[in-house]
Parts: sequence; structure tokens; C-alpha cells
Amino acid sequence: MKAVQIDAFGGPEVLQVRDIADPAPGPGEALIDIHAATVNPADWKSRGGSYADPAEGYFPHILGRDFSGVVRELGDGAEGLSPGDEVYGVAVQGVDGAYAEAIAIDAGLVGLKPASISHDEAAALALTTLTAMIALEDTARLTSGQKLLVQGGAGGVGSLGIQIGHHLGAHVITTASPGNHDYVSNLGADEVIDYNSTDFTEAVSDCDVVFDTVGGEVHARSFAVLKAGGRMVWIAGQPEGFTAPRDDVEVMRPNVKRARAYMDRISEFITAGAVKAPEMQFMSLDQVREAHELSATGHVRGKIVFQVR
Ligand SMILES: NC(=O)c1ccc[n+]([C@@H]2O[C@H](COP(=O)([O-])OP(=O)(O)OC[C@H]3O[C@@H](n4cnc5c(N)ncnc54)[C@H](OP(=O)(O)O)[C@@H]3O)[C@@H](O)[C@H]2O)c1
Repeated sequence: MKAVQIDAFGGPEVLQVRDIADPAPGPGEALIDIHAATVNPADWKSRGGSYADPAEGYFPHILGRDFSGVVRELGDGAEGLSPGDEVYGVAVQGVDGAYAEAIAIDAGLVGLKPASISHDEAAALALTTLTAMIALEDTARLTSGQKLLVQGGAGGVGSLGIQIGHHLGAHVITTASPGNHDYVSNLGADEVIDYNSTDFTEAVSDCDVVFDTVGGEVHARSFAVLKAGGRMVWIAGQPEGFTAPRDDVEVMRPNVKRARAYMDRISEFITAGAVKAPEMQFMSLDQVREAHELSATGHVRGKIVFQVR
């Protein structure tokens, strides 16, 4: 099968497109023919060595987290799936991932893809919806009528943060560059701030929840817009040595776990029409270096999707 491997941490030049042997499903695993996979910032951070412990046996390593495809074969004891099922899921960090024509993965992490969406859409919705759902529903406990600021609304996770916030009945404010304002409004944002020309701390106040997908100095300044008792839910890097400047707000980092039960919750959002795929830019696995360079600019709208087959 075709796969993208790295043999060392480094820049885009360490990404190698290769023809390698198909994986075999181990006990409890499903072998899935991948139709679509996406690029997440975690991929180029992993490539650069940000997360992984380069323990013996890590290299060569296949990057990639979320995917959609068709079950080819099941390992002993793999439950809840049948060959031919259309499925989607999110791989855990550290194991071989989804930049490949096939993946052998714990069957318990994979859910049935709603028939109403394509493999491209399912891949683009997997980690983005998982993250926004766990952040806003499970962690921040966002409820109807609350005021939510989504930092980075045009990004992959931000696109879903807006939609889930809107679906839960929140008043959704988001930050985006002017070229993305129509995009985020169409996803359900009630107010859009051009963060280039407007200081969001002067335009927004008394938020119940900030969902920070940008990090850095944006994270530090976002505390100013929370009301007393508000919740800061963050998924992008805090500034080095950062300490929260207020003790009258909750600071929460969502625990973005993987499991079929979460994929089934995502499917409920999809079939209820509560969420749709973010904007997609299509590439092939052969364009992986270009895809990583583009993602690392921090200004992709929606998702880069690899159309694998
Ligand atoms: N903890 C977890 O489990 C988890 C899961 C998923 C993602 N993450 C992390 O969350 C972050 C976001 O992920 P993602 O996939 O959504 O990234 P992404 O799609 O690459 O986000 C890019 C978006 O960020 C926007 N942006 C950049 N700078 C901004 C600023 N100063 N203010 C407002 N918007 C800004 C850009 O919009 P404009 O072009 O309009 O600026 C662009 O659309 C990453 O750091 C990722 O690693 C963590």
C-alpha cells in the first residue's frame, strides 16, 4: 500500500511517500481501506518531534489521525463491525496513523459513517467534531443562552465549535480574518470580529465560555472577556510558563478521548443536521509536504483532506 512515513523528526523533507506492506489486523483490530484522511496541526507537530517519545520501534512511523474508509477484515475478537462497513474514526497518538491506503486499528475506536455524508466529509468531521464536542458539551457544559467566544472560527476545530455552539443555543461570537467572515457567519456565528483590525478584548465582554483554538498571546488576552465564574476551554499552546491571570474563572483542558461511543455521538450531530463538514481543500498523499507547509501557516480555512482512493 501507499503510505507516508517518517524515519526521523524534522521538517517536511522527512515525509516519505512509500509503497509498503499492508498491515495485518491484530486481536480486536479492524483493517480498514482508507478513502480519505486529513491534515491536523498535530501531524506536523508530531513530525517535528513535539509529542512523541522516540522510543525504540517508533520509526518508521506513519502520521495521521482521522480517516474514513471501508472495513476489509477483522482481527480475532473485533466486535461491532463487519467487512464492507463504511466507518470513520480517529487514531490515537503514537501508533501508526492514517496517511496510508489502509490502517489496522482498535475496532472499538471506529464508528459507522452516516450514509448521508461522503468519506471526505466524514474524515473532515471526525477529529474536529470530537474535539469541539468534548470541549463545549462535556468540558465547558455550554448551555442555551450562554455567550461563547470561539477563537479561530475559520479553522478545522473552530468551524465545528461555531456549529456546536449554535446548535446548543449559545450566542456565538468568533474571531476571523475578513476573507473568512461570510464563511463563519454561514456556520452559525452571530457576531464576527476581525482580529487584525479590532482588539477583541474591547469588542467582547461577559462571556460564559471562551473556546480557544489559537493559543499563545490570544490565549493570555482571552481571560479579559470572561465574566466572573466563566470557563476558559483551551486546546492550543499556552504561552511559555503561563499562569492564568484570574482566579474567578475555570481553566479547562478537554480530554479528547477516542471511542466508538464518541463517534456515534458525532454521527447523531450529523444525522440531526446540526453539523456539516468544514470547507475542504483536496490533495493526494503525494502532496503531503505541500499540505504540511500549508497547514503550518495557521491560515487554512476548514480542512485539508487527502483523497486516498
Ligand atoms: N487537544 C486536542 O485534542 C486538540 C485537537 C485538535 C486540535 N488541537 C489543537 O488546536 C489548534 C487548532 O486546530 P485546528 O485543526 O483547528 O487548526 P487550523 O485548522 O490549522 O486553524 C487555522 C485557523 O486559525 C485561524 N487563526 C489563526 N490565527 C488566528 C488568530 N490570531 N485569531 C483568530 N483566528 C486565527 C485561521 O483563520 P484566519 O485565516 O481567519 O486567521 C485559520 O482558519 C491546534 O493548535 C491544534 O494542534 C488540539
